[in-house]
Amino acid sequence: MSEAHWPETVGIILAAGRGRRMRSKRPKVLHPLLGRPMVEYALRAVEQALGSKPILVIGHQAELVRETLGPTRAHYVHQDPPLGTGDAVRRALAAIPLDQVRTVLVTNGDMPLLRAETLRALVDAHHHHPGPITMLTVERDQAQGFGRVLRDAAGRVIAIIEEAHATPEQRAIRELNVGVYAFDAAWLAAHLPQLPLSPKGEYYLTDTIALAVKEGAVVHVLPLEDPTEALGVNTRAHLAQAARAMQQRILERWMAAGVTFIDPARTYVEDTVTLGQDTVVWPDTYLMGNTHIGEDCEIGPNTYILSTRVGNRCRIFASVLEHAHVEDDVDIGPYSHLRKGAHLARGVHMGNFGEVKNSYLGPGVKMGHFSYIGDATVEEGVNIGAGTITCNYDGERKHPTYIGAHAFIGSDTMLVAPVRIGEGARTGAGAVVTKDVPPYTLAVGVPARAIRRLPRPQSSQHAEEA
Ligand code: UD1
Ligand code: MG
Repeated sequence: MSEAHWPETVGIILAAGRGRRMRSKRPKVLHPLLGRPMVEYALRAVEQALGSKPILVIGHQAELVRETLGPTRAHYVHQDPPLGTGDAVRRALAAIPLDQVRTVLVTNGDMPLLRAETLRALVDAHHHHPGPITMLTVERDQAQGFGRVLRDAAGRVIAIIEEAHATPEQRAIRELNVGVYAFDAAWLAAHLPQLPLSPKGEYYLTDTIALAVKEGAVVHVLPLEDPTEALGVNTRAHLAQAARAMQQRILERWMAAGVTFIDPARTYVEDTVTLGQDTVVWPDTYLMGNTHIGEDCEIGPNTYILSTRVGNRCRIFASVLEHAHVEDDVDIGPYSHLRKGAHLARGVHMGNFGEVKNSYLGPGVKMGHFSYIGDATVEEGVNIGAGTITCNYDGERKHPTYIGAHAFIGSDTMLVAPVRIGEGARTGAGAVVTKDVPPYTLAVGVPARAIRRLPRPQSSQHAEEA
């Protein structure tokens, strides 16, 4: 790990702990939270606060963490075994040139609700006050296992006592250590080797406070205004609490941008999703992954959309869309399913019980009832009759179907791929099409055969298909 120029302030995110209380095979910081691995929130907050890439201290299942986030997502530092937060920071500092770096910001990988603004304010406060340490504290009744802030009679911070080692009187203290600090880098590097071994056999970063006080230094405190920011995730119950708070924050962000949620408590919108102005989201709707919804849409109720782009003025009701693309003025549902690679152009109508996979439906295509379209290209203005099926799979391979512009596919047509239906062609109800149908031709029967030429429109702007 090397970097020619380190910024004046470097962020260190601690994420090497075992996270035992999660009772999980998965590393704690990779548990998903509203569409991102939990540690992503810490990474983004530090990046946004400092404008530089943080150091991430990893240990438990380090390779999986690095693989999931990608090799360039952070400067990775290994700590194994996890000998405590003091040891973790000591390892991170060993990777930093102390002649370039003045301040280190230390935060936790398991505190996803911390805002970048708060971290920035902490660093700014540190630079405006004398003393080697500025720490974030929070006052609240739920201690959540946090360390308690001890003050002397004059109100000066003198130490942090971990809950496990606190007396009943100390446990009653409501001022808690958030575990987020700005340190003078050189001071910290000089003092970490002096940390005592705790009764648990760990080196506690929190013991730096008492070291500073012993030297006569002042430890400055920045109290958190919004206590939900300090929600630390140690258990599944904490994870659920964090998810609820994060969800509310995400929905409030979109409401401020002009989106209506009919019932926010029954709406799931991941942090990765974007929504356009005047879009209305009905309850029991799940918007996930890389999903982007345009303006003036009505989404839901009972809709699941994963990694799909939706244009403006679309209406999507009780349907499932996955890895698809929907242009403007499309209506879908109820009970339809867009699968991977479905692309619906402007003005498509897709009604009840339709399924589209890896296919393009051109502008204005109508597909009202009970159809499966897979591996197909369907040109503009085609009408797909009720029950139409592309028989795209022969048991071994998938085959394509092509339907030319303004063709009319009769109800219950089976299109046995590979097959092409010419522009302006028609198929009769129940046709089983095993051979290509030429343009402007009617084909009927089982197997379908051409029985009649059809008149071409006078001003055919559609060139005959090659
Ligand atoms: C720590 C603080 C506590 C504070 C709380 C706030 C210490 C000793 N205690 O307690 O005062 O109120 O955070 O959340 O610092 N980690 C490592 N390596 C280790 C141990 C931990 O990287 O050897 C990481 C963890 O993955 C985690 C963070 O450091 O992200 C905090 O560790 P954790 O074990 O959760 O400490 P707490 O008991 O929560
Ligand atoms: Mg913790």
